[in-house]
Amino acid sequence: MELEIRELKPTIGSEIIATKQDLLSGEYGGQLRDLLEQRGVLVFPEINFSDDEQVAFTKTLGQFAPEMLDGGGESVHRISLDKSQSASADYLRGSMYWHLDGTMNEVPILASILSAKVLTPTGGDTEFCNTYAAYAALPESEQEEYDHLKVMHSAWNTLFYYEPETGFDMLDQMMAIGENELPLVWKHRSGRKSLVLGCTAYQIVDFEHKESIRLLVKLRDWATRPEYVYRHKWSVGDTVIWDNTGTMHRALPYDPGSGRLMHRTKLEGEEAFA
Ligand code: OGA
Ligand code: MN
Repeated sequence: MELEIRELKPTIGSEIIATKQDLLSGEYGGQLRDLLEQRGVLVFPEINFSDDEQVAFTKTLGQFAPEMLDGGGESVHRISLDKSQSASADYLRGSMYWHLDGTMNEVPILASILSAKVLTPTGGDTEFCNTYAAYAALPESEQEEYDHLKVMHSAWNTLFYYEPETGFDMLDQMMAIGENELPLVWKHRSGRKSLVLGCTAYQIVDFEHKESIRLLVKLRDWATRPEYVYRHKWSVGDTVIWDNTGTMHRALPYDPGSGRLMHRTKLEGEEAFA
């Protein structure tokens, strides 16, 4: 059996038509992993996985990464801005700005798998950009200039995106999470390189503040040009996987009270930022 695969944009995204049985058999795990690395985002339209099936499918692709939650582990994580749907609703407000998941860890998750359960009539699409393609398209002189730069990342920086005049207590709480110094250009074991940016990035090491902001904004602008972006318009039952090591993503704004709900699973990272 051959998978039916269709490219969504030249630089990012492939749609895969397969039956649940095929996907759950595990037979295509290796092929899908390769495709994920090449294409950044894989879409399984209206595959309608149950939670157990989503967990089983995740395990065909690599090592299942449990979510860290107060109450201990759970198999799927509820993603919603609606406080009645998700305990981490407030924290998720940062997901409306370009980011990658896990910039506070040395080894970020390899991939996230998101399934649409409840949608909103307006807003709530998810956009993805290919940070391998964006790096590759930079002029060589700029690549050389950026290759050795380091950038400070923090969760507290995301606060200033969604709550610019945040209260001190909230800031203090977020600052307790800490900071992480990451390379601006990730040199992967494969030899490929990708840009590491997003709303957690707040300062290029050894740069004057204004110059740092200039370059971070310039590069985000570059990496999120329309040619590197795929925008997913969800249908209930869709499952989408992204390669968290070579893409950034963001949810487009939606009404937090709308009940939009996604179920997420993750694959354990296999490579440290380098
Ligand atoms: C995430 C995320 C975006 C969305 O789950 O990490 O950023 O559209 N989700 O819900
Ligand atoms: Mn995210």
